[in-house]
Amino acid sequence: MEHERAVTRAWVLHPDLKSDHSRRPAEPALAEAIALADALAELQVVGADVVRLPKAHAGMLFGKGKIEELRQKFEADEVELVLVDGPVSPVQQRNLEKAWGVKLLDRTGLILEIFSDRARTKEGVLQVEMAALSYQRTRLVRAWTHLERQRGGLGFVGGPGETQIEADRRAIDDQLVRLRRQLDKVVKTRTLHRAARAKVPYPIVALVGYTNAGKSTLFNRLTGADVMAKDMLFATLDPTMRSVVLPDGPEIILSDTVGFISDLPTELVAAFRATLEEVLGADLICHVRDISHGESEAQARDVMDILTSLGIDEDRPLIEIWNKIDLLTPEAQEAMRARAARDETRFAISAVTGEGIDDLLAAIADILVGVKTTETLTLPFSQGKKRAWLFAQDIVQDEAQGEDGFDITVRWSARQKQDFERL
Ligand code: GTP
Repeated sequence: MEHERAVTRAWVLHPDLKSDHSRRPAEPALAEAIALADALAELQVVGADVVRLPKAHAGMLFGKGKIEELRQKFEADEVELVLVDGPVSPVQQRNLEKAWGVKLLDRTGLILEIFSDRARTKEGVLQVEMAALSYQRTRLVRAWTHLERQRGGLGFVGGPGETQIEADRRAIDDQLVRLRRQLDKVVKTRTLHRAARAKVPYPIVALVGYTNAGKSTLFNRLTGADVMAKDMLFATLDPTMRSVVLPDGPEIILSDTVGFISDLPTELVAAFRATLEEVLGADLICHVRDISHGESEAQARDVMDILTSLGIDEDRPLIEIWNKIDLLTPEAQEAMRARAARDETRFAISAVTGEGIDDLLAAIADILVGVKTTETLTLPFSQGKKRAWLFAQDIVQDEAQGEDGFDITVRWSARQKQDFERL
């Protein structure tokens, strides 16, 4: 059901601080921030600027002249919300909101909004709530430090401000404990589900990649499912799983995961990682890349860094899917196809036009042929020949006689399963 939602007119600012030596190139960073804002349906981005400044001003972040210049723009464009792509202290936030007569969100606030908008499973929702509370708590702590300093100067001791903030902090802590307990329960249930799924005798293939790389689009193309492929980031906060029969190959479980993003605020790292845990159990990892993106290489490095830090072992099969090849010039497409062809773990494709998909599927089937899964079959007593075949392959792990026949547990590769089904 679509609700008529009021649209909020938003402006995106990317502060480019000369004092920050590890800063990213400003223009693509601004473009990503705009895409992030677009991910929220109720926002309409009416304008965006890179603001270059030598260093952040303590109380207002930006300089006086810039603030006034922006104020006029905001007024003319009837801006209601300003998104600052970077950290903004609570004091700066209050001052800027007052100076501009708008509401202001910083990068963490924005990503939290998106996460809470997209969280689909119970676990995702709880994690986002916890991240939001922790974020609020740090804001309280910081606001409190600030007040305390002021009070010290004025010679007050204690005071109503402090008591209120302490009470707020305690309330947040209590709420965090409750959420943590709920989360533990959900995780336990999920572990049970996962154990049940582990009995599903299909290899698991996980799609991972930078946000907007085209994972959901590819997932839909491969499964024929409608998994919200929109031009919005984080369409998939929680992993989605579907079974797919590969042409001439095994049946697999394909799992779509949340998109990666660089400069993830620390409050959100845990929430984000938990959504990726599924990847650790995958038999094959497909790293989907937007090969037409100007920062494709840096994005790929970010993704690999996170996978490594999650503890993906070195010999886990991993392939790179170079997506959106259709967006390149014909010459660049040729070069890209040639480069991919030289390496059997790289595939140049377009999830939109379908180019390269057949080769990709064939390669996935090939890789998975070697992966073994466990399954219990029931063979009627009349099928002694099939039973003998299983024993001849030396893949039987356990056998019991039931009412209807033999219950045989086998551990086999997709190829062996296929051969068996053709008997
Ligand atoms: P997150 O959910 O943010 O992680 O994104 P995602 O990786 O799932 O990306 P998604 O599938 O939502 O695609 C992002 C945008 O890229 C959409 O507008 C797609 O239509 C577009 N897109 C995906 N694949 C291709 C492609 O091969 N070619 C072109 N031209 N566009 C593509």
